[in-house]
Amino acid sequence: MRRTLIAGNWKMNLSRAEATELAKGVAAAKPGENTDVLVCPSNVYLDAVSTSVAGSSVAVGGQDVYFESGGAFTGETSTDMLKDVGCSYVILGHSERRNVIGECDKLINKKLHAALAAGLTPVLCVGELLEERESGKTTEVVRGQITGSLADVSADQMAKVVIAYEPVWAIGTGKTASPEQAQEVHADIRKMLADQYNEDTAGNVQILYGGSVKPDNAKELLGQADIDGALVGGASLKPDSFAAIIAAGN
Ligand code: PGA
Repeated sequence: MRRTLIAGNWKMNLSRAEATELAKGVAAAKPGENTDVLVCPSNVYLDAVSTSVAGSSVAVGGQDVYFESGGAFTGETSTDMLKDVGCSYVILGHSERRNVIGECDKLINKKLHAALAAGLTPVLCVGELLEERESGKTTEVVRGQITGSLADVSADQMAKVVIAYEPVWAIGTGKTASPEQAQEVHADIRKMLADQYNEDTAGNVQILYGGSVKPDNAKELLGQADIDGALVGGASLKPDSFAAIIAAGN
């Protein structure tokens, strides 16, 4: 049985005091036996947040990482640096990095290999733009992103990859994909992984949904057969709403 992962993506929000306070609130939440909890603060506060959740089961992750191990890469962060400040996960290919910063599948793929080599669990984000959905290209776009981002990833390595389906039109907009719309894409991702790898590998991969997940829609989304958790932006910034989503994972 796949475990449920509820992940908070804090993006470029919160002060040091707010981040550590929120982290303590999340650490006090009581996830069900089958639910894991992850928070992804700004790099600047990773160390402080790791300290705040120490002793709890809450995992900490980066929002991005660079593929080189060190050297003259101004502004970048290495996998070892993330691990050094307590990270066990890293979000990769978030739509804001793809569409605002301009990252492509090839770069994301290099980052993913670096994360796996370092023993960090990548949370690989994929998802279509509104115009792509409206022109019937959702499957093609999502499959293309998965193929590109997972190039040369073995079946063994796939056991350590988490995928997050995040339709771009649902991120931060208050518009959630319906549980049926989300389930349809999640099932297609799993089918694609079964064809590319095997049924076992596909059956074990955690596929999270992201895009305006809130306490009032979490239960229904998480109740879908192929939805194994949530990547939560806005609603992860308040301890109460994030705790309610964590509770919906039970
Ligand atoms: P949202 O963000 O929950 O605010 O829509 C989700 C995400 O970007 O991961």
